[in-house]
Amino acid sequence: MWSEPLTINQVTLPNRLVRSSIGGRMAYYDGTVNGAWSNFEKRFAEGGVGAIISATLTIDERRWSPLEYPKISHDRYIGALRRGVRKVQAMGTKYLIQLGDPGYHTQTSLFSQRTDAASASSGFDLLFGYRNWRHPLSTGEIEQVVANFAQAAVRMREIGCDGVEVTASKGYLIHQFLNPGINRRTDRYGGSHGARFQLLAEIVTAIREAVGPDFLFGVRLSARDYNHVPLNLRLPPTLPLRHWWFGNGIEQTIDYGKRLRELGVDFLHISNGFGFINPRENPGDLPVEEVRMFMDSTAHLTGKAAVRAAALRLPKAVVRPLMNLGWGDKGTLNLDDARRFRQEVGLPVIANGGFQRRPDIERALSSGACDVVSMARPLLANPDLPKLFEQGVEAPARPCTFCSRCTIRTTTFPLGCYDRSRFDSDEQMEAQIISWSATLDPITDEPVTSPGAHS
Ligand SMILES: Cc1cc2nc3c(=O)[nH]c(=O)nc-3n(C[C@H](O)[C@H](O)[C@H](O)COP(=O)(O)O)c2cc1C
Ligand code: SF4
Repeated sequence: MWSEPLTINQVTLPNRLVRSSIGGRMAYYDGTVNGAWSNFEKRFAEGGVGAIISATLTIDERRWSPLEYPKISHDRYIGALRRGVRKVQAMGTKYLIQLGDPGYHTQTSLFSQRTDAASASSGFDLLFGYRNWRHPLSTGEIEQVVANFAQAAVRMREIGCDGVEVTASKGYLIHQFLNPGINRRTDRYGGSHGARFQLLAEIVTAIREAVGPDFLFGVRLSARDYNHVPLNLRLPPTLPLRHWWFGNGIEQTIDYGKRLRELGVDFLHISNGFGFINPRENPGDLPVEEVRMFMDSTAHLTGKAAVRAAALRLPKAVVRPLMNLGWGDKGTLNLDDARRFRQEVGLPVIANGGFQRRPDIERALSSGACDVVSMARPLLANPDLPKLFEQGVEAPARPCTFCSRCTIRTTTFPLGCYDRSRFDSDEQMEAQIISWSATLDPITDEPVTSPGAHS
């Protein structure tokens, strides 16, 4: 049953529904979370999820994920994060912080900077990242990355959150090292299946040392890389070509899961695909208009970003079918992979992607495919979903359509649902989006601006 509690490494989740990471422009320019952030997170706790996993908080002071997204790369971020986390915990909901480093998948920056192209190896990627060419990190720089993760973990403990999740998915830096189509190194961080795991192994070991054995610690993994979707131009091709075309398959990542268990990781959070966004992680449609908006907003940064934005200005009849290759599948696409991880690795598994209906969630849990289900877009559309399930409702009256407009629009606009078909009017949609971003007084928890104050 979704409503049954679950204890993992001494942390008891009151139920099996988790709010998956939702990143948005909820920080001041320096990366400190703003007053709207805690209000946003609290909304999901009110809705009844058992735990919330934060947006990816970047552990690198210079690499943004992207601009005005929250950071955890310095002690100055601790205080504001702690205040928000306490508000969520006060409602009985557990709060986990997700740590990540985008590496060359950094999509925006104040100015174009070399560090935003840091990766395992050199190469070109049309779709992800804005720099023209990615470059390999030196051994010294890799040591710094490991230290950054460990320091962020210490801050996280100070914040008082209930657990940590490291993102080794999404095409972010760790994933770039794991992916054999991207990692062409021949030192101890590449050249074989085991060596490509080395960076993640060092990060996990350093974090475990920093937080101790009694701290809840999970890793978000992509079961299969599916390098060939979405449509992308990625150079150079690597040999064997299956590495370039597919990346890791499930056999390889299950082996990584087993190694993570040996290193003391407590749970795995299973999604799919390589890069944010991609059709295996975000089942549904690709919002071409929104992609165009985002590409326009970064076009000034590099030649690649300019070309990309110009290509998206070609007639829609050409762009839309091309961009939608590989997209459109809806439903709980990752569930069978989650099941294999649970069976073969033997760690508790969170399944992610496409869950929204209570019967699907019940089936996933009762069939033993996973221990917990996480959701992002369906909760953004209907934050009270767990409460509705409690009342016996199978699916919300106005479900999330998995259009993914929110996923891209919120890199430049406030977080919220942008599918007009779910609302009676533009005004209604706008009011909901703005209410998500209402700033609360840090002492009284009341809205700083009462409704109608400006009318
Ligand atoms: C607006 C938005 C922001 C997201 N930000 C993050 C993020 O910061 N880190 C992350 O790992 N996933 C992020 N995701 C992905 C979700 O956590 C989730 O994996 C994905 O949306 C698929 O789950 P769903 O079908 O329940 O939405 C984001 C998704 C959305 C819609
Ligand atoms: S914009 Fe709304 S309907 Fe579309 S995916 Fe996001 S939450 Fe769902």
